Order: sequence, then C-alpha cells, then structure tokens
Amino acid sequence: MRKKIVAGNWKMNLDYNEGLSLFSEVINIVKDEITGTQEAIVCSPFIHLHSLVQLAKGYDKVSVGAQNAHQAESGAYTGEISAKQIKSVGAQYVILGHSERRQYFGETNQLLAQKTDTALKNELKPIFCIGETLQEREANEHFGIIKAQLEEGVFHLSETDFAKLVIAYEPVWAIGTGVTASSDQAQEIHAFIRKEIAAKYGEATAEATTILYGGSCNPKNAAELFAQPDIDGGLIGGASLKSRDFADIVKVFN
Ligand code: G3P
Repeated sequence: MRKKIVAGNWKMNLDYNEGLSLFSEVINIVKDEITGTQEAIVCSPFIHLHSLVQLAKGYDKVSVGAQNAHQAESGAYTGEISAKQIKSVGAQYVILGHSERRQYFGETNQLLAQKTDTALKNELKPIFCIGETLQEREANEHFGIIKAQLEEGVFHLSETDFAKLVIAYEPVWAIGTGVTASSDQAQEIHAFIRKEIAAKYGEATAEATTILYGGSCNPKNAAELFAQPDIDGGLIGGASLKSRDFADIVKVFN
C-alpha cells in the first residue's frame, strides 16, 4: 500500500509567530487522530523551518518541508538556500517545480532535474510538482506537457532514487482560483502519471508512488478527490492556512 499524504504549502504567507501558532494548532487538532493519513507535512517559508521541526518532535506522522532549494551545494548565490541547509534544521521534504516557481522564476524542467538531484543527495525528499496551464489544456496538450515534465525533470533518476519522490499534480488553472479539477479530471491525469511511471520504472514502483492532487482543494471537495483510486492525498495551499480546514483535510482518509 502506498503512503497517503496531506501536505500544506503555506507559500509566502505568515510571519514567524503566526506560523508557529498555526502549526501548534494543527498539531493539537490532528495529533491523536491521524489514522488513515500516514503523514501530514507542512511546507513553510524558510524562517519557520527550524522551529516547526522542534514543535513536530514526538509526532512521527507530522513532518516539515521547505518550498524550494537551490541546485548548487553551496556558494556565491546571494539570497538562496541550499538543500544541505534545509536538511540541517531537520526538515525532511522540499517542494520542487511548483508552478509558481516555474512561472515567476523561470524554473525549467532541466533546472528542476538538477534541483532534484541535489535535494536527494542531501537526503531531502522532493515533492515534485507537475501540471498544465489552462491554455495547454484547452489546446489538448496536457498529457504531452505532463509527460515532458516527468521525462525531463525526474525520469533520469535511478529506480531507487525515484522511489523517494512524492509527485504532485497541480493543474495551474486550479491553483488559488477556487476552480478545482473534477475528481474525474484529476483521476484521469493521476492514472496517466502512474502509467508513465510504470512504463519507465515498472508496475511495482508505479504502484508504490504517492501522487498528490493540488489546486483549490478544501474540506468540502477533498473526500471526493481522495476517493479516486490514483489520488493519494493533497498538496494544499489556501486551506492549509486555516488550522481547522487543514486538519479536516488531513483526516479525510480516517
Ligand atoms: O501547492 C499548493 C497549491 O498550489 C494549491 O493552492 O490555494 O489552490 O490550494 P490552492
């Protein structure tokens, strides 16, 4: 059975104290009640990471991740953060390839392949995001786009390394828009992603890969989405900023 995960992506929200309060509230609500979900992850801005890791101690189903990491090991890259630095504060995950990074910071599949290598080398588990824009979907290019994102971003990995990834399908048109992909639309793409993984790495690896859905996921629609056979949880933006909403989504698998 593959892992069911609900991950929050706080994006560039919350000051230091707000972040700590929200995380403490989330832990308090979910701590004794995570049964079906194997892992709840919060991906915070860098400033919160160390403190969140401390707060999460003792809760083995709650993990902390970053939202980006540089591709180089270290060096003269003013303002950047390395995978090693993230790992050194105890975070376990890093989101890579989020569409906002692709769109606003020009991150390409090739760059993301490098970032993935560096993250894995430093024992961070990438939550690797893929997904098409509205324009690409309307032009019926979505399958090709997703295939290319996988092939160029992560299919260079060995089977052992690929098995450390979590994949997140986030259709760009559903992010922060209130428009969710229907459960059928999401399932169709998740099944396609799993098929591509099977073609590259074999059935066993494909069956073991956790594939999250992201894009306007909330407590009202999460149950229907997560009930789909190839949707193994969610990557949650806006709703992860409200402790009750995020906790309710974490508990959907219970
Ligand atoms: O990474 C999560 C994300 O992009 C979805 O955001 O606000 O639509 O849940 P949101």
